Amino acid sequence: MDFRKKTVRDVEVAGKTVLVRVDYNVPMKDGEVVEDMRIRGSLPTIKYLLENGAKKIILISHLGRPDGEVKPEFSLGPAAGQLSALLPEVQVNFINKTTGPEVFDAVQKMKDSSILMLENLRFSPAEEENSEEYAKSIVNVTGAQLFVQDGFAVIHRAHASTDAIARLIPAVAGFLVEKEVSSLEGAMEAPERPLLVIIGGAKVEDKQPMIDKFLPLADKVAVGGKIAADGYTATDEKVYVAHDFATDENGAKLDIGEESTQDIINMINEAKTVVWNGTLGMVEDERFAKSSLAVARALGTSHAKTIVGGGDTAGYVEKVLRDEPGLSFTLVSTGGGASLELLSGKKLPGLEVLQDR
Ligand code: 3PG
Repeated sequence: MDFRKKTVRDVEVAGKTVLVRVDYNVPMKDGEVVEDMRIRGSLPTIKYLLENGAKKIILISHLGRPDGEVKPEFSLGPAAGQLSALLPEVQVNFINKTTGPEVFDAVQKMKDSSILMLENLRFSPAEEENSEEYAKSIVNVTGAQLFVQDGFAVIHRAHASTDAIARLIPAVAGFLVEKEVSSLEGAMEAPERPLLVIIGGAKVEDKQPMIDKFLPLADKVAVGGKIAADGYTATDEKVYVAHDFATDENGAKLDIGEESTQDIINMINEAKTVVWNGTLGMVEDERFAKSSLAVARALGTSHAKTIVGGGDTAGYVEKVLRDEPGLSFTLVSTGGGASLELLSGKKLPGLEVLQDR
């Protein structure tokens, strides 16, 4: 499916100072990145910019929800360190500020073809307030001539770094945004059929808009997870709801059962496109991850186009992929809320603001 926004391919990047919004909101433990899928996801755009002669690359991101205060445990320093480990041939520096004279000096001192990562944007309340002043100060202090949005996971937010900033200088998409949006929109707008949508997770209020959006589009919608365990009732004959469950010693239904798992696998075997959002059981406990593991394996070996979205589902599939790297998926989305909103048919402000083709 054609992507309707301009990307880095459509503009001149040679000799430019490029500001790239990434989403390095990654899980950390004891000051170390424990899962770097989002950082790896940003590499194609960064490499393209370097290979095509971008002069300086300045990366901006948020991490967690520090609520507008400087909280060292939310520093992006470790994420910059992980990026540096992934790009050993490139100079990657980090500065613990987002604006002000220190950032100006650091940008002035950057070598050609190097990267500077700024500190967590959400250390200032101005980021979430979508402040034009904050956006201007970042553009001015970095001297950025081009803005690239590649933080797919955050483009459902209208913040200074996703909205205001894109109104100040030419703003285009990076490859991660292009890939994720094209795959997710493609599955909704022109899917190869049969299209199967598998919905799990815990909160029906989060997932109902997606079910509603897909009902007219999909050939089958399979519902599992806590939603099914809590007694989800289908309102359409296209909807299949898991009917047996694995329980703990207190009788709590924490995974869908073998029969329902097999039913869903049979549907996968017949599908040409599958969208999976929401784990089917409590995957944190291996005893209740059986259906999700079976579905991940069925998808990862299927010839269908397979799209996995949602923070918990994508995180789980990444974990399975570490143990079983032979599995393959068309897209494992880096965006939780963003993919859910896109799949629910909502407009994403950080995407809409980019230049049209
Ligand atoms: C995410 O992890 O979903 C994104 O990084 C957005 O984070 P937020 O929900 O704190 O805005």
